Amino acid sequence: MAKVIDGCLIANEIKNKAALDVIKLKKLGVEVCLAVVYVGFNAASEIYIKNKAKACESLRIKLKCVHLSESVSKEEFVNTIKRLNSDCKVNGILIQLPLPPQLNDFEFFDLINPAKDVDGFCAENVGRLFLGRPCLTPCTAAGVVFLLDHEKINLSGLCCAVVGKSNIVGKPLSLMLMQKNATVVVCCSKTVNLSEMLQKSDVVVSAAGSPKLIKASMVKEGAIVVDVGINRLENGKICGDVDFEEVKTKASLITPVPGGVGPLTVAKLMKNVVDAAKMQHGFCEI
Ligand code: GUN
Repeated sequence: MAKVIDGCLIANEIKNKAALDVIKLKKLGVEVCLAVVYVGFNAASEIYIKNKAKACESLRIKLKCVHLSESVSKEEFVNTIKRLNSDCKVNGILIQLPLPPQLNDFEFFDLINPAKDVDGFCAENVGRLFLGRPCLTPCTAAGVVFLLDHEKINLSGLCCAVVGKSNIVGKPLSLMLMQKNATVVVCCSKTVNLSEMLQKSDVVVSAAGSPKLIKASMVKEGAIVVDVGINRLENGKICGDVDFEEVKTKASLITPVPGGVGPLTVAKLMKNVVDAAKMQHGFCEI
């Protein structure tokens, strides 16, 4: 039976350290501030923003939520980002996804000053991650790597399968795992024999957005299984990409949904905001 990871417990370690840094910065005259740009209405985004607001409040990070109308023009959206870039009181800028169709372009992240890009999504930060240079890194992927480090998993030489190749999770995570000398296989919905790929893997991370996609028969005995999926079922319940009840009997380590990777994403965001504030005031490099 697998050890079930408590993501909240691990997230608290990150948040406690960030909270101490917020206090230190305040003593130096810096009030840490995150700006969230939210366009229109999306039920999932409402929950994500509420979670971020709660974390900011508990860490005494100021949250500036800029809520724009669903029909906002490209020009107004661009001007909003530019204003936040030049506001020296704003340390981090996050554009909440998804955006409405007229703005549906990942290139909008390139408008954000890379030093304030706390999602790590702009081309400069993605390029820095690719090259293994210091940068602000995408929060969910960073949370997964932190979790594996926390559990003292030495990834060097292990075969890691990442299911899902999104810009937000799958791609950055595969780079981070490579940096740890893991042998990385990136699978997606077009992968011909997913089971075969996963059965060879010591670590499986699923970020496919497909409820209960990963069954016990698909993973190796003793595998480490990390579930990034957050899927809402017809009965309103949240479930991950992994069939938790089945897979926990075969894995050695497993993350639940909810309460696994989710809290780590928010904690890593808080850390990124604090790191961005430190960098902007010359207190440290990332
Ligand atoms: N919407 C869902 N996940 C994310 C994320 O990681 N960052 C942003 N900005 N929006 C999201």
